[in-house]
Amino acid sequence: MVKVLVIGGAGYIGSHVALELIDKSYDVTVYDNLSTGQKANLTQEAKFIQGDILDFQSLKNAMKGVDAVIHLAGKKAVGESMQNPQLYAVNNMQGSINILNAMVEENVKNIVFSSSAAVYGIPQYLPIDEQHPKNPMNFYGYTKCMMEDLMAWYEKLKGIRYMALRYFNAVGYDALKRVKGKEANPQNLLPIIMDAATSRRDGFQIFGNDYDTKDGTCERDYIHVSDLATAHEKAIHKLFSGEQSRCLNLGTGKTVSVQQVVDAAEQVIGKPLKYSYAPRRAGDPAVLVAKADLAFKVLGWTPRYTDIKEIIQTTWNMEI
Ligand code: WQD
Repeated sequence: MVKVLVIGGAGYIGSHVALELIDKSYDVTVYDNLSTGQKANLTQEAKFIQGDILDFQSLKNAMKGVDAVIHLAGKKAVGESMQNPQLYAVNNMQGSINILNAMVEENVKNIVFSSSAAVYGIPQYLPIDEQHPKNPMNFYGYTKCMMEDLMAWYEKLKGIRYMALRYFNAVGYDALKRVKGKEANPQNLLPIIMDAATSRRDGFQIFGNDYDTKDGTCERDYIHVSDLATAHEKAIHKLFSGEQSRCLNLGTGKTVSVQQVVDAAEQVIGKPLKYSYAPRRAGDPAVLVAKADLAFKVLGWTPRYTDIKEIIQTTWNMEI
């Protein structure tokens, strides 16, 4: 049985990855400090170690006998990363360095890393392929770039092979509702809509309706978290079959506008939502969309969820 350490495996994306690996009969240990992750997200098949990526000895102990690491233990609030870069430097950069160094010491040779479309910054062309220049416009994105660069060096110098998966907009929940914990204090569009729909907040705003897009609101590439999870399992599998190290976009290649998300949410929820139009949010590109063909080809992966209503339904199911 292939033994995988899922670091950050109690978080939103990590818990879906852990589920996918368990479904595919991997031996899964989740390593998480529970700062934002929740034990409620774990099924009983996953072993659990409560530990921090800043605790090098604990990380090393967790890596004994492990065949591959999946690293999803990052802080991810873009705004916070600009206010408090120190926090992101320590958690995302020092923490990632610790993971690589612990892998070297424990002779673990394979890593799948949770990267982001934030490495690209403002798109110079669309759809964004993996050759697009990396030019992050926030510190969060910079921490992801740094880890990608480090992994390339550790491959050359220490033979560690990697897959960096650059997620576009992750949304949705496990359709079987096995992930129980909702994220606290959500920063992203769909969870904010859910908070408004359930009166946890008093409505929401659409940031900008004067963009040069299909309906004036921003367009994004929304990828279901269970599809992301499947890609991680395939990435592990490919590393073991000798596939070369890669950076891969994970998206659908299709855009959905903010207005379309809101309209679809109203249909799924079955009632009108309370919202207003507000000025553009600083730093938002009009359109972000992946060219995801490389992941399709290299991993043999295609997203199963392509209908935004179906995706939203898996999120709404968490509320009902
Ligand atoms: C989506 C769209 C908003 C809230 C961010 C990071 C990215 C990645 C994913 C990762 C935008 C609009 C939002 C609201 C709105 N990070 N919006 N009203 O900014 O595309 O991507 O999360 O871990 O690196 O930048 O996602 O969900 O914040 O916004 O109108 O109350 O919804 O302007 O067009 P974004 P988002």
